Amino acid sequence: MTRASEIVLTPWERPLDAYFRPPGDKSITHRGILFSALVAGTHTVEGWLDAHDTRSSLRLVEALGVVVREQTRERLILESPGRSGWREPRQPVDCGNSGTTMRLGIGLATGLLGGLTVLYGDASLSARPMARVAEPLRALGAQVWTRSSGTAPVAIWGGPLRGGSVKLPVASAQVKSAVLLAGLWAEEAVTVQEPLPSRDHSERLLQAMEAEVRILGDGQVAVEGPPRRPLSLTVPGDPSSAAFWAALAALLPGSRMVAESVSLNPGRLGFYEALRAMGAEVSYQRAVESPEPAGDIVVSSRSLRAIHLAAPDIPAVIDELPLLALLATQAHGRTVISGAGELRVKESDRIRATAEGLSRLGAEIRELADGWEIEGPTPLTGGEVEAFEDHRIAMMLAVAAAVATGPVHLRGAEAVAISYPDFFATYERLRAGAAS
Ligand code: S3P
Repeated sequence: MTRASEIVLTPWERPLDAYFRPPGDKSITHRGILFSALVAGTHTVEGWLDAHDTRSSLRLVEALGVVVREQTRERLILESPGRSGWREPRQPVDCGNSGTTMRLGIGLATGLLGGLTVLYGDASLSARPMARVAEPLRALGAQVWTRSSGTAPVAIWGGPLRGGSVKLPVASAQVKSAVLLAGLWAEEAVTVQEPLPSRDHSERLLQAMEAEVRILGDGQVAVEGPPRRPLSLTVPGDPSSAAFWAALAALLPGSRMVAESVSLNPGRLGFYEALRAMGAEVSYQRAVESPEPAGDIVVSSRSLRAIHLAAPDIPAVIDELPLLALLATQAHGRTVISGAGELRVKESDRIRATAEGLSRLGAEIRELADGWEIEGPTPLTGGEVEAFEDHRIAMMLAVAAAVATGPVHLRGAEAVAISYPDFFATYERLRAGAAS
């Protein structure tokens, strides 16, 4: 460390040989916590991800009256008063950096009977679009306000929705989940349709809680009744966190990694499918089916070739696109990734942040309005790069540093605490040759 916010990373000298269990899945942990507010009783969330983002969700449900009975590294036990015991938060609730907390939280607070909830966040979250949640909810009869720019703070006056159908302009699991949560107590059924299917963790978990949620096909989901059973959930490992080591295994010749007990939800495997299409060896060993498919992922290095990804491919790989861009810098040929304009409104503008970071390291990467064009392979040199307070950019650049030819000065590395607090400890352990 040279400054509190800057670290220097040097190239790895040997292949990766890793067998490990990545941290609990972030999307599923958020839902385990947030959904506990829905049903009275004791909810258990085993294998949860303890990170800044998921703590934001804990803060929100505590403000709604949920009591944390146990909080250890292994599990969370939450005691919920259920909907009839919900209380109006005394203060505006801080959602930190977490888009999932705020967007699903808007849906959750809509179900409060006649109470006011105000949600705010950090500078990054305050710049992200919230009108995309407020508008469909208003169309169903909810009372939700954003700033005039369509951003947070967001104020919600709870009360039952009329019901009806909404069509979302963007594929977003967060927006879809907000509509499903708000629709649980609607006077009539609520149907939400996405242009492309996004991750379906909310549908699976709400069904496991015996809510009346039906998958209608053609990107449509209907909700017709509230959940009746508390959650007893084992959170699988996060495929988006394992992806950093999978990328490294693909990039460092002679490497192999086995990520154990990871979510194999098809809505989350786009990165691994793309890696396979680029020539890496990728296999899955499914061990669990329900409520979430899970098992091991094995990745071994091979020579990589360029790929093309377009809009229909994007939802299943949305969080791993910066990593794919890194892989493309080391693949033979021209990679084109398009239809990914959503990346501009993530924790940072990830199209810009990725292009800037990788080109500072010598990559040939051209920014498009909705993606990149990348020419490979080009050796990555050392240099000074910036995480833009974005956890996934910080971790992608750390992986780039491992395969660079010189030292990389990374500013803002502490952002990893959002989703993967142990990232750098694992990085050093694996670099030293430890298998897990
Ligand atoms: C998430 C959905 C995705 C993803 C985010 C987590 C979720 O966002 O990028 O990291 O847990 O539902 P969108 O649904 O806005 O695409």
